[in-house]
Amino acid sequence: MQSVLQQLQDKRALAKLGGGQQRIDAQHAKGKLSARERIDLLLDEGSFEEWDMFVEHRCADFGMAEQKIVGDGVVIGYGTINGRLVFVFSQDFTVFGGSLSEAHAEKICKVMDQAMKVGAPVIGLNDSGGARIQEGVASLGGYAEVFQRNMLASGVIPQISLIMGPCAGGAVYSPAITDFVFMVKDSAYMFVTGPDVVKTVTHEEVTAEQLGGAITHSSRSGVSDLALENDVEMLLNTRRFFNFLPANNREKPPVWPCEDPPTREEISLDSLVPEDPAKPYDIKELIVKLADEGDFFELQPEYAKNIVIGFIRMEGSTVGVVANQPMVLAGCLDISSSTKGARFVRFCDAFNIPILTLVDVPGFMPGTAQEYGGIIKHGAKLLYAYAEATVPKITLITRKAYGGAYDVMASKHLRGDVNLAWPSAEIAVMGPKGAVEIIFRKDIGDPAAIAARTEEYRQKFANPFIAGSRGYIDDVIMPHRTRARICRSLSMLRDKQLDNPWRKHGNIPL
Ligand code: HXC
Repeated sequence: MQSVLQQLQDKRALAKLGGGQQRIDAQHAKGKLSARERIDLLLDEGSFEEWDMFVEHRCADFGMAEQKIVGDGVVIGYGTINGRLVFVFSQDFTVFGGSLSEAHAEKICKVMDQAMKVGAPVIGLNDSGGARIQEGVASLGGYAEVFQRNMLASGVIPQISLIMGPCAGGAVYSPAITDFVFMVKDSAYMFVTGPDVVKTVTHEEVTAEQLGGAITHSSRSGVSDLALENDVEMLLNTRRFFNFLPANNREKPPVWPCEDPPTREEISLDSLVPEDPAKPYDIKELIVKLADEGDFFELQPEYAKNIVIGFIRMEGSTVGVVANQPMVLAGCLDISSSTKGARFVRFCDAFNIPILTLVDVPGFMPGTAQEYGGIIKHGAKLLYAYAEATVPKITLITRKAYGGAYDVMASKHLRGDVNLAWPSAEIAVMGPKGAVEIIFRKDIGDPAAIAARTEEYRQKFANPFIAGSRGYIDDVIMPHRTRARICRSLSMLRDKQLDNPWRKHGNIPL
């Protein structure tokens, strides 16, 4: 018996070494942790239960029959983060460059299938050279099996992709289907084809970092939600992020103990909006002041900065925040900000997370670049997402809510549950100057007349009371009381029930 036990221990020790100490050292030399070290940091201490440690690939071509490494390049299993169940797979770059074989894919599918059965999130730690070249179509089939499960899990369990090394070829498409993609700076990159292929096809000279590094995808393409400094920062931030999410689409987000009183008043908010309507202010100041303990987890902070998205808690429960940012492009809606906002609204709606919308928007961005780029179709995504959402929707207009953007940003007409405004709100078809120049075009040569008309328009529409008189705004509130009013609204909406009509699925303008 003793010898069998020893055999097991030896086998385990061998599996834990992956591609060997030399390759683990090489991984460390690049500033990267090993697949198992990453899991240890991500999960609660001692909570990881590993599966399929002894799985081997079945390829016999290109000398592979003699090269078998138990585990086959991916560590899978389950554990907890702050006591809450999560499934993980962590690719091991020391084994054939973390490349995906048929057996490797089967392991990933196994945790995804189990996660779906028990209703728990999946976190994938990606560090892979893509399809295992020696296996040919078997590895392509393996990828497609993973993609299919990503799609089936979408909107059922949260899926998070951590990109912690190369992610090339088809390997980028599994993360792309998941809900959130976080990347490590300098060591992670994602691209459909690498710099060499790019050079051959388009004659562009570009480094891997420029083409698909964390900064590129977090600031230019929007593929990544966050860029983190290193592996440790990535894993600790993922733990913090995980605390905001529900386990699945049938559960509500977790409620954490909260010391911050819901009635806390913030006198400084009474002067947040400047007197001059053309002057910007930082909407993040409002978000932080509304949040429990000022804790705001912002997503995509470097992409489409004219809209701000992320999670806060109010009375311990998760709230998704979507806010126009007057500091950038006056907070107007363009292609990138519309798609950024729309995807976030849909995540919140799929996972029972109430949405708080903070509005200060002068309208959609004009111009040929936007029109040729399809602002009509992309702007419609945000409109569609808000109209579709059945979770509690609370909207606060702090200043401008002009034109179509008023409608889009969770207005009463799109089934906003509680629509509030500060006294500084201006709700109109457009700003006073633009409006007067159109409806009183004949007076354009008469500055005094134009000034009088502009003032008349400002008096009439540059306030929240016309909208209030129609019930489009439920109340005009004192800014310093905003947290209390929103907390009470959320509490009132806790058991909200609303369903959309049955259909196979809608057809969001993609
Ligand atoms: C098999 C691979 C591999 C792969 C790397 N390795 N990628 N083995 N299949 N795809 C092996 C290497 O042979 C090497 O083995 C070890 O992993 C480490 O690789 P290095 O090249 O030494 O490391 P590094 O210099 O850091 O470069 C990493 C890399 C590079 C950038 C990922 O290896 C690379 O370009 N790999 C190929 C990427 C690729 O084209 N993949 C296919 C994409 S197509 P030894 O034994 O020397 O340690 C695809 C289609 C899927 O994925 C389609 C689905 C829709």
